[in-house]
Amino acid sequence: MAQESVDPAHRGAAAGEPARFGLTADELGGRARASFGVYVHVPFCATRCGYCDFNTYTPDELDAGSSARSWLEGWLEGLRTELGQAAAVLGDAPRAETVFVGGGTPSLLGADGLAAVLQAVRDAFGLAEGAEVSTESNPESTSAEFFAGIRDAGYTRVSLGMQSAAAHVLRVLDRQHTPGRAVTAAREARAAGFEHVNLDLIYGTPGERPEDLRASLEAVLAAEVDHVSAYALTVEDGTALARRVRRGELAPPDEDTLAEDYELIDDVLEGAGLGWYEVSNWAAGADARCRHNLGYWHDGDWWGAGPGAHSHVGGVRWWNVKHPARYGALLGAGQLPVQDGERLTEEDRGTERVMLRLRTSEGLPTDELGDAGRRAASEAAAGGLLDPAAFDGGRAVLTRRGRLLADGVVCRLLA
Ligand SMILES: C[S@@+](CC[C@H](N)C(=O)[O-])C[C@H]1O[C@@H](n2cnc3c(N)ncnc32)[C@H](O)[C@@H]1O
Ligand code: SF4
Repeated sequence: MAQESVDPAHRGAAAGEPARFGLTADELGGRARASFGVYVHVPFCATRCGYCDFNTYTPDELDAGSSARSWLEGWLEGLRTELGQAAAVLGDAPRAETVFVGGGTPSLLGADGLAAVLQAVRDAFGLAEGAEVSTESNPESTSAEFFAGIRDAGYTRVSLGMQSAAAHVLRVLDRQHTPGRAVTAAREARAAGFEHVNLDLIYGTPGERPEDLRASLEAVLAAEVDHVSAYALTVEDGTALARRVRRGELAPPDEDTLAEDYELIDDVLEGAGLGWYEVSNWAAGADARCRHNLGYWHDGDWWGAGPGAHSHVGGVRWWNVKHPARYGALLGAGQLPVQDGERLTEEDRGTERVMLRLRTSEGLPTDELGDAGRRAASEAAAGGLLDPAAFDGGRAVLTRRGRLLADGVVCRLLA
């Protein structure tokens, strides 16, 4: 998943007061470091999946008087303006090492629209030699021609939302594609020259049986992708799924089942040569890891453009207004479309380093922990939650049991 969907606490800031968070050329200029990434948020979907609370809008949720095309065009114009402003604010920002177009449904833009997005990033920042350029795509809005078009435009990686190979699971999730479409799309992407293709899975959907999950994993392996993300279904407040669970129509995911599912996923993927490198991510070797997401987990700098996108540069973090209309209006008025933001203290940054790094297979150098944290890490290593050999070598690395209890281990290390 490219960015957290968490709705940041709105602390009453007037939208578009970016200077309060240091978003001025004086304060931010020159702060972006070598691992600089650009995230672009496409806030549109054809329909909404019942479990999803990402910042995305369907045609029904947007002004009925405007066509989908005019929303897309307005968004693209706003994006170009925001990226131009970003380049001016950051001054001598490095070229983008990674670009990630996420959503929402970026494939709704078509190959030409995604080419225009990448051109806007090139115009603003330029791309570093060998940059990773990813886009998320929904299986049903892709085709062989689409993949050929985005490959020509300069994309290097595709991430497809497969979720499951079982028709009854896809129905509970309100997915629009047939069970086989994601695998076919992955093959089409590979045939178009994409070496790096990811499939997203969701596990723990009400009604999913172990044999359904196993069949999904077999389908993933048959697609011969080099990356898999697998997420436990989260019942997000305010979603159609949450309402169905509350009414008793669907059972919420059960913790023991989720743990068994995770073990099955890890066994099958590891057995096929896809090693875990973050609690929810597996890759066929170091080259197959998503460099953009590694930037988030390794305290990198990135500019997130588009409605609701989050950014982080040099210890300043901010997020954009969520609605595309408000986003366009602020940019039209010559302002950055910022909702709110904060400066991170050294303590905040230390806490985030523990939370994010501990979830990666590289782990966390134990000398970044305080005395109490090191004692807790030692106990976690003795208790089978951290790898004892890595711990002896000065790193806190989760064992598989530790990965199942990752949030709890983080809490102990930060206590
Ligand atoms: C925001 S989506 C964007 C990708 C694309 N729109 C799609 O659905 O194919 C990124 C991924 O987040 C995951 N996701 C979204 N909401 C989730 C939830 N409530 N629980 C678990 N995974 C979720 C899904 O696996 C999805 O593919
Ligand atoms: S298609 Fe993707 S972004 Fe859109 S509602 Fe479904 S999961 Fe969310």
